[in-house]
Amino acid sequence: MFANQKRITQHIELLSQFTASPGEGVTRLTFSKEDLDARNYIKEQMKQYGLTISEDGLGNIFGKLEGTIPDAPSIIIGSHFDSVPNGGAYDGTAGVVVGLEVAALFQENKCQPTYPLEIIALVEEEGSRFGGGLMGSLGMMGLLTNEDFQKLADKDEIIVVDAMRNIGLDPSKLKQRDPKTIKAFLELHIEQGPILEEKNITIGVVEAIVGLTQLEVTVQGQAGHAGTTPMNGRSDALVAAAQIIAAFPQLAIDEGHDTVITTGQLHVYPNGANVIPSKVVFSIDIRSAQEVHIQNVVQKVEQLISSQNRGNIQIFTEQLLHISPKELDVTVRSVLKEVSDQLAIPNCSINSGAGHDAMVFSDFTAAGMVFIPSKNGLSHCPEEWSDPNHLVDGTNILYQTALRLTKGI
Ligand code: GLV
Ligand code: MN
Ligand code: MN
Repeated sequence: MFANQKRITQHIELLSQFTASPGEGVTRLTFSKEDLDARNYIKEQMKQYGLTISEDGLGNIFGKLEGTIPDAPSIIIGSHFDSVPNGGAYDGTAGVVVGLEVAALFQENKCQPTYPLEIIALVEEEGSRFGGGLMGSLGMMGLLTNEDFQKLADKDEIIVVDAMRNIGLDPSKLKQRDPKTIKAFLELHIEQGPILEEKNITIGVVEAIVGLTQLEVTVQGQAGHAGTTPMNGRSDALVAAAQIIAAFPQLAIDEGHDTVITTGQLHVYPNGANVIPSKVVFSIDIRSAQEVHIQNVVQKVEQLISSQNRGNIQIFTEQLLHISPKELDVTVRSVLKEVSDQLAIPNCSINSGAGHDAMVFSDFTAAGMVFIPSKNGLSHCPEEWSDPNHLVDGTNILYQTALRLTKGI
């Protein structure tokens, strides 16, 4: 029995309805009402597919099918179920849905694994609510200390533990997972770029994932009256921020090697049309396939910032996330390719310009990823779309791979 397209598209469709921005894409922030609705739906499906459900102290959801060897490490399949603001229905969700469908196939085909199969739905990969990103996987692997976790807060200063309690989750539960309990991690994700569609290839077996650094910059100036303060007497925080941000495109181009810099978040205070901005907080997202370019750019950004740090303008920078580029497991990559070839599904190797939970797991276990094409290369927007036939192909590949890995071959 192969993957059921109707079931897959129904899950995608239903989960897309758990959004805070109906008609304007998927906005599903971690521990929001929409998170709770999606969570309940995912848990319900896991139950129907015969999995034993648990949630950890980070809010990650696990559905487990026991293996025949007691206490053996699991093959974990899944992705994240949070979204960016006004994002699409596939980023993360597609990987969770494919995980659910693999579990459904194990049940339908009465597969009894030797090693356990676990389906996972991870929280806060995007960092859209608590900043940084990859919270679910970093916390699981002990890379987010309890102290740092406790300090996380959203833009309304709601701390993460209160946000969890508000939807009935228990942040005092165990967060960290012993890497010895994981045999492999598999994730299907939409490509979020144009390469597979341009090449007309269904599956990208991911070789490596870019490294990324996220900084939060606070520019502190002096508020004043927009009409009465002469231009040369101002400490305008937004003008200082704009001068820094405007230099980024050239800085990235000069660094070369596909280095990219983005400011996607900017908060202006007090945000009045006739008030000189007293404070600006903005994000910087820096990515490259090579660590050296990330480090170079971080250094240049810091120089740029210190050149604006003068007079009544004071600038503070905080690093919210740094993760170096990662290569995914060679053996898992070759199994994914072999299985794709056996199923006669066109495939190629590909690198990822987006960050993924698989990059966190790759330091602890054999991690592998497959990409399916994104229509017009679009992602992180309501137009995000992937072909259900490609989701079916991807599911069949992960199912066959999971069959092998859960048998220990
Ligand atoms: C996740 O989508 C990321 O690459 O930031
Ligand atoms: Mn994303
Ligand atoms: Mn994603």
